[in-house]
Amino acid sequence: MRVFQSIIILGVTGLAVFFWLTRPAPAPVPTIAQVQGNAVEGAEVFHMAGCGGCHRAVGGDPLVLSGGQRFASPFGTFVAPNVSMDPDHGIGSWDIADFDRAVRAGVSPQGRHYYPAFPYASYANMTDQDLANLWAFWQTLPSSNAASQDHDLPLLFAWRRPVGVWKTLYMPVTAPVVPGADDVVTRGQYLTVALGHCAECHTPRTALGGVDVNRWMQGAATPDGKGKTPDITSDTLGWTAQDIAEYLKSGFTPDYDMAGGKMAEVIENTSKISDADRLAIGTYLTQISR
Ligand code: HEC
Ligand code: HEC
Repeated sequence: MRVFQSIIILGVTGLAVFFWLTRPAPAPVPTIAQVQGNAVEGAEVFHMAGCGGCHRAVGGDPLVLSGGQRFASPFGTFVAPNVSMDPDHGIGSWDIADFDRAVRAGVSPQGRHYYPAFPYASYANMTDQDLANLWAFWQTLPSSNAASQDHDLPLLFAWRRPVGVWKTLYMPVTAPVVPGADDVVTRGQYLTVALGHCAECHTPRTALGGVDVNRWMQGAATPDGKGKTPDITSDTLGWTAQDIAEYLKSGFTPDYDMAGGKMAEVIENTSKISDADRLAIGTYLTQISR
């Protein structure tokens, strides 16, 4: 009897070892380099994410990413760098993994933190597919050999290491959950948060400069301290989803005012995305209340 039991135990153990040793190799972890990008769809990501708005030259073509625009903030003045495909002055020597780490992790190929004036805390929510599409489109853009300029920062903020602390507190920008969100609202939220980075301007910031998600879309001071960005929660705004979609297309408010300031720049981009996506953003925003 004993012998019989031992044989069974040995047999079962043997089988287990056999199955363990011969198990199919786990599927390779999908890395960003294996995601096939589509440049046409990448153009939509580019417009929605507004990369050209910040990285074009002052008054320049938004497809020529030569940099040079200055962004004043309580932490100093940041100058957008050349991010065109020029190998010396831009990012032409990068691969998609470098690009991914910059855009979704805010880390340079040398392993240094970028400042969050580059809104990567929002882009951190971007899907692999959109990141790959964006990179595919990036390759098609003209290069510029304009040299990047240094930021103008007080000594305290010239040190990038503390940005790591900021990241643990405020990255990624996480939108409040919309109860019962359907596919359209989910799409709208993704476009608004991950690509459009709308909250970076429309949500107040904490003293440390993080997006204060508890006051989601309730309006904020502009970073240069000179102006205000409006509250766009549904009760305050009082627009329909169609009103918002129209505004993102033509710049006209329901009262036939014209969008001004930084928002005009945003609309230059959102005028190029699809009607369905504009309506999705509008639908999402009507779900946001104070
Ligand atoms: C609000 C303005 C703004 C927007 C929008 C923006 N950027 Fe930037 N970007 C910056 C600033 C400022 C820096 C410099 C950050 C630093 O030096 O730490 C930067 C840095 C970068 C870098 C690093 C360049 C280098 O030489 O190391 C890359 C790459 C980049 N941005 C790509 C993008 C992409 C892709 C998008 C759109 C998905 C985008 N940016 C949108 C402002 C912006
Ligand atoms: C760079 C900062 C910035 C970003 C990013 C931004 N906005 Fe705005 N937005 C503004 C400013 C400033 C105004 C006020 C425009 C004016 O005075 O005409 C505004 C106005 C608006 C209004 C009209 C509010 C009103 O009462 O007239 C809506 C709606 C709006 N934004 C939605 C969005 C959406 C959706 C996004 C993301 C796709 C977005 N904004 C991204 C700065 C920004």
